[in-house]
Amino acid sequence: MSKTFYIETFGCQMNAHDSEKVVGTLIREGYQQVIDEAEAGLILYNTCSIRDKAEQKVFHRLNEYKRLQGEGKRFAVIGCVAQQEGEKIFEKAPYVSIVAGSSSYRNLPEMLDRLEAGETRITGLDDRQTDETFDTEFTARSNPYRGYITIIEGCDKFCAYCVVPYTRGKERSRTSASVLAEAQRIAALGYTEIQLLGQNVNSYVDPSGKRTFAELLAAVGEVNGIQRVRFTTSHPRQFTKDIVDAIDAMPALCDHIHLPVQSGSTSVLKAMQREYTREWYLERIAWTKAANRDISLTSDIIVGFPGETDKDFEDTITLLDEVGYDAIYGFKYSPRPNTPAIHMVDSIPEEVKVERLAILNARQREIQRANYQRHLNQTMTVMVEGHNTARNQIIGRSSQNKTVNFTMPPTESALNGHGFSRAGREAEIRGALAPEGTALPAPGSYIDVRITQVFPNSLVGEAIAPAVAPSPALLAQQALNARITV
Ligand code: SAH
Ligand code: SF4
Ligand code: F3S
Repeated sequence: MSKTFYIETFGCQMNAHDSEKVVGTLIREGYQQVIDEAEAGLILYNTCSIRDKAEQKVFHRLNEYKRLQGEGKRFAVIGCVAQQEGEKIFEKAPYVSIVAGSSSYRNLPEMLDRLEAGETRITGLDDRQTDETFDTEFTARSNPYRGYITIIEGCDKFCAYCVVPYTRGKERSRTSASVLAEAQRIAALGYTEIQLLGQNVNSYVDPSGKRTFAELLAAVGEVNGIQRVRFTTSHPRQFTKDIVDAIDAMPALCDHIHLPVQSGSTSVLKAMQREYTREWYLERIAWTKAANRDISLTSDIIVGFPGETDKDFEDTITLLDEVGYDAIYGFKYSPRPNTPAIHMVDSIPEEVKVERLAILNARQREIQRANYQRHLNQTMTVMVEGHNTARNQIIGRSSQNKTVNFTMPPTESALNGHGFSRAGREAEIRGALAPEGTALPAPGSYIDVRITQVFPNSLVGEAIAPAVAPSPALLAQQALNARITV
């Protein structure tokens, strides 16, 4: 078998970051990444099981892979569907050699040894047994401007609809010392933005007892060179006021909290086993709104959970109005294997789910249309993420996690030394993204932008000062990782 691999990743940010760790581990073990699956000796498929008959889609995809089966080609199914379906995957797709859930990735080097020795049915399945976390120094950091750190793995909440407690294992946190050591390694690579990850990131409990979650946030914000700290996803149950206080006290902590409510109806929340009420949730929102900083709030919502009445759904709509989120991710309930809700009658017809989701999204769009108005004429610091050459815009993100599309002013050197009048030259340059003499700011650059136009999902503006370029270390890291994809 040739030591080349191809990886494809689905699912949440934690899955994407797991892939960075898996890729780093494979490279460490002497494998080389290829971007064409036809050239790979080992094909890895990092799967998600959250909604919509995910396992059927995986088997469908595996069937497509089967056509690729060449001499010595091996397949690994990893991630949440792997943990959920387990050895059934070998029955349905006998050409698969590895089936491994995320709680077993620390054993990957050993699994790869067995694969290379010719074994064909290698499993890494955990079933909520392990207390260990996958901390590795060999993460392939493929993101050009943001370093991810998983601080807590698994989930112990068992919401009635959700597969995660079964696919990701027990809730278990890393020591704050190990998190901070990783934050320092990330800063040394030149990154200025860190995102802390966990299915319920604020359920974090430091095994060494040294720091609370809010204290850990502050400590990461104090790491030399770190300018932005994000964290996701927060759960309302463990959402404590000291998190808001930490954001208020420390500008490096981004003014954005993703706090999924799922439903605005207390009786639906009870059926969902979320273990909080509408009032409990709104109390946490009130803390956030009382902060000195303008903290942006976002949420996830499920419509059409079994038994959701028109009145329950109306409660969700009024909650949207009351909170005034800056974004929501709305989903139609979908029954999932192993979950308690699979035993409930999926009572809401598909067309009602579709209609409720459409109403939800339409209302939210109106809320955002009004909300985003507050940014008109504001000046905000934006971190560059990329460029939209078709639209002649630079794409960046505000601390609040809002997308900002903007243009650069032409530089003095571009304006001078040409045979045109200054005004004519300026008009010519404004239409072009990278006029002669101006360089596009690299991802990870910071730049102050004045907002000139607002849309329900994005802001548009003009840079009012030159960009602050990323450090040479980050540029070197970006060049290195241009060969890595996750
Ligand atoms: N731990 C996070 C959510 C992780 S899953 C939390 O508790 O908030 C991401 C989102 O997927 C959830 O917030 C939920 O809105 C949605 N989701 C999970 N299971 C679902 C299901 N069976 N049907 C529809 N949406 C679901
Ligand atoms: Fe799923 Fe609930 Fe855990 Fe979130 S808290 S991952 S929704 S079980
Ligand atoms: Fe999907 Fe697993 Fe994440 S089910 S959403 S990849 S935790």
